Amino acid sequence: GMKFTIVGAGSSYTPELLDEMAMRKEQLPVKEVMLYDIDEKRLGIMEGFCRRFSKKLGLDVEIRATTSLDKALYGADFVDTQIRVGGNKQRVRDEKIPLQYNLVGQETTGAGGMMKAFRTIPVMLEVAEKMEELSPNGWLINYTNPTGLVTEAVTRYTNANIAGFCSGGIFPKMWAKRALGIPYEQVQYDYMGLNHMNFISNITIDGRPVTEAEFEKIAAQNDDVDLELIKLLGVIPSPYLQWYYHTNEKVAKFKAAPKTRGEYVQDLEKDVYAAYADETNCEKPEALAKRGGGGYSEVAMGFVNAVYNNVDTKMVVNVPNKGAVSFLPDSAVVEVGCLVNKTGMQPLHVTEVPSMCWGLVAAVKNYEQLAVEAAVEGDVRKMKLALLAHPLVRQWEYVEKLVPELLEANKEYLPQF
Ligand code: G6P
Ligand code: MN
Repeated sequence: GMKFTIVGAGSSYTPELLDEMAMRKEQLPVKEVMLYDIDEKRLGIMEGFCRRFSKKLGLDVEIRATTSLDKALYGADFVDTQIRVGGNKQRVRDEKIPLQYNLVGQETTGAGGMMKAFRTIPVMLEVAEKMEELSPNGWLINYTNPTGLVTEAVTRYTNANIAGFCSGGIFPKMWAKRALGIPYEQVQYDYMGLNHMNFISNITIDGRPVTEAEFEKIAAQNDDVDLELIKLLGVIPSPYLQWYYHTNEKVAKFKAAPKTRGEYVQDLEKDVYAAYADETNCEKPEALAKRGGGGYSEVAMGFVNAVYNNVDTKMVVNVPNKGAVSFLPDSAVVEVGCLVNKTGMQPLHVTEVPSMCWGLVAAVKNYEQLAVEAAVEGDVRKMKLALLAHPLVRQWEYVEKLVPELLEANKEYLPQF
């Protein structure tokens, strides 16, 4: 039987993984689900809920919980990581500090995303290094953001098997389903770029290219980037391109908002956790559907199925480039379509690079590599270089002021600096 470990199991997303296991129970013999977290209170609540929920789902697995990372990782076949170092409290700081300078304040990109990477990468390297010893044949399925930088760090500095994911990989399928009622299996596309910095082209339905009208309907589902702009580009950018293509508008909007996304999520979490703690409840809380990470468990268990059962599956994964994106280094981690099976992931060569995007993708990769080095080495000089390389920061006047402020706001979580 399979041992499936969840690192950061106190996360409110955990039950979605059980849901997906139940849906695939004929194909996936999961014997043990090991919940690991450093927060004993949330872990205990989640353990109780997962027992009730798996019973309700008719899922015959042993639910266990531990605060020992070694016990959690030992002999695991798959380790799903979904941690948030410093919690939403630090997320809110990542959002607010850059906004003071009229810069994008976001948990995965810009200066805030970099700080999340600094807090997270040392912890993720520890998990990966322990897996090299305790579960050398296991797969690390990473959902911890910023997933591109985390995957870049783990592949560069350890030998653990890691696949980095974002629910964004299936967004075009979700959009096509919502817009045209077409099931996932019939929709294919080319996917090129980095995590939260990517472009979807050559969409086909049952192997035939979409019509212009279909393209527009699918594109209109991306609420964050203007439809006229998408039509002009001819490819669909990730919703995260809103920060690049609508920078001033979005900064103004988020500055004026009464709460940041992180503060909103903190409020939501109260309801979600109250529902999990209620011992008479065995249903997923409704408020969970208001979180952005929905769909990720589907991708995670799709990967488990592809690897465990050796089923060739096309999936979007963060992997070392190996020539898939011609203008980036072979070792750089990219987010592209891959063929996944028992042997791991093979990135599919990207034949068409949309003309206006390669410069942005290269600039952000440049930032990412510097940020990963800064995170590992605790190097303030590289931290400054990374911010100078980031298209959403870039100006020295900001970098000079931001660096001490960001370090101060994160000092409890940055032993490497
Ligand atoms: C999307 C992104 C994830 C991100 C999430 C945020 O799904 O792809 O990387 O973590 O949104 O959702 P939240 O509810 O925390 O704002
Ligand atoms: Mn994501």
